[in-house]
Amino acid sequence: DWNMQSFVEAAIADIRARIGPTGRAICGLSGGVDSAVAAALVAEAIGDRLTCLFVDNGLLRLGEFDEVLATFRDTMHLNVRGIAAGERFLTALAGVDDPEAKRKTIGRVFVEVFQEEAARLGQVEFLVQGTLYPDVIESVSVKGPSAVIKSHHNVGGLPETLHLKLVEPLRELFKDEVRAVGRQLGLPEALLRRHPFPGPGLAVRIVGEVTPARVALLQRADAIVTEEIRAAGLYDDIWQAFAVLLPVRSVGVMGDERTYEHVCAIRAVTSQDGMTADWVRLPYDVLHRISRRIIAEVRGINRVTYDISSKPPATIEWE
Ligand code: XMP
Repeated sequence: DWNMQSFVEAAIADIRARIGPTGRAICGLSGGVDSAVAAALVAEAIGDRLTCLFVDNGLLRLGEFDEVLATFRDTMHLNVRGIAAGERFLTALAGVDDPEAKRKTIGRVFVEVFQEEAARLGQVEFLVQGTLYPDVIESVSVKGPSAVIKSHHNVGGLPETLHLKLVEPLRELFKDEVRAVGRQLGLPEALLRRHPFPGPGLAVRIVGEVTPARVALLQRADAIVTEEIRAAGLYDDIWQAFAVLLPVRSVGVMGDERTYEHVCAIRAVTSQDGMTADWVRLPYDVLHRISRRIIAEVRGINRVTYDISSKPPATIEWE
């Protein structure tokens, strides 16, 4: 597409001019589309003078850290460092059950980890971020800070703490345009089509305290949801589909035994931009397969419910 081609060429020229012939930049990859496309653009402009960091906060989906790291490294040929910091995040989250407190804890540890890595690299002047136009609008809300329902911009403190200059090549784009830029740059389609995933990851899908055991349970239930949604050919029609682990136990029977285990909720929504959302009328047989498999394969969950709430008033995530 000619328009995309010229956008990409102009963006690369801008980035080169801003960073200069010897400048170095750092970029935190979340595993999502925005940061990946931003990094790919900057890498086109300055090559290996861009170092990307992909932090495993222990709250990613099952197998995601290794898979996405391999995509960044082997398919996109980014200069990327994977940082296994799961234990550090989960330790900091022990005893924290309030949703906003969880987000703040995760944000704080992320800044610490990022700062340590940046210090190790030395000589970095620029921070690349995949900020989109809607993010720019949201963060200058005329309603003021009290209008912020959830503190989504969990890495907001990064530029100030690190004294880095921001490079935000996607500032004027909407999500679908970012995907088109990614396509133009030859990014894998599977990455471009991935469902959005919150920065605090599974922490906001474990209602109450996050423990390593609960993360492990939810990862397995969530993987089944994704597999079955894909198998049914529905993945690309859905904005997000996932499992939520509830702090509720329920009685069940298994063979001759009584069980008393976790309940998990399934959430699947359609949306244009995440601001409003409708629950997906998933076929009963898909719901049936998801439920049967979770209960059979994930020891520790004995009941599955389906969330039929729209946004507003319910949010997409449970926390
Ligand atoms: P809610 O739950 O507010 O979510 O309806 C709207 C969209 O934002 C995502 N989300 C987050 N993303 N940090 C993020 O980066 C967060 O703390 C966060 N909370 C929610 C959510 O997955 C949905 O796409």
